[in-house]
Amino acid sequence: MARKRVAILISGRGSNMTALIEAAADPDFPAEIALVLSNRADAGGLARAAEAGIATAVIDHKAYGSRAEFDAAMDARLRADAIDLVCLAGFMRLLTDGFVEGWRDRMINIHPSLLPLFPGLHTHERAIEAGMRLHGCTVHFVRAQMDSGPIIGQAAVPIALDDTPDTLSKRVLTAEHQLYPLALALVASGLASVENERLVMQGDVPADLAGMLLSPHFGG
Ligand code: GRF
Repeated sequence: MARKRVAILISGRGSNMTALIEAAADPDFPAEIALVLSNRADAGGLARAAEAGIATAVIDHKAYGSRAEFDAAMDARLRADAIDLVCLAGFMRLLTDGFVEGWRDRMINIHPSLLPLFPGLHTHERAIEAGMRLHGCTVHFVRAQMDSGPIIGQAAVPIALDDTPDTLSKRVLTAEHQLYPLALALVASGLASVENERLVMQGDVPADLAGMLLSPHFGG
């Protein structure tokens, strides 16, 4: 089966992008990273993608008069590059309903919380303040409402009593880098799809692709 052509949308350092690029370097991975697109020319991830020999593009949102025009420019580039799937990886722009619908069930996002808990920003701080003992990350299909949509996979990490948002974010980020390639593989291979706004899996899903991780990365 042909590998799915994936575009990764970033706005910053791109550590999840790097995890996806590394996973897709394996010819058996069901997706290839065909494009890294950023709305910011200074996104650190752009140089890392270029180093890996991946096509990059900058579409600066400030050059457009409206969200709809910016999204239309991104959409045109994605379609010109024959992209099959879009991965949001620290892409810090709200997307219009039209763009989201145009990529329905073909666009996924990683969010640093166990959704539906803590959508939005400052998730680590909010999980600590709420007294949670578990936290984590979620990969989900993108819907018009921010940080919502059918969940593909989640990884849970413990919260230590002396965690700060910084120490906790590092633990979650390690889990993100494991979870995102796994979730992309599920979608790109066709094993995972959506029915009635819930995830469905086709056939026997190998245990290592089960879509849920309990993080072993807990030192104290
Ligand atoms: C990650 O925590 C991701 O979950 C969130 O934004 C952050 C991006 O980090 N959506 P990076 O650019 O992938 O390093």
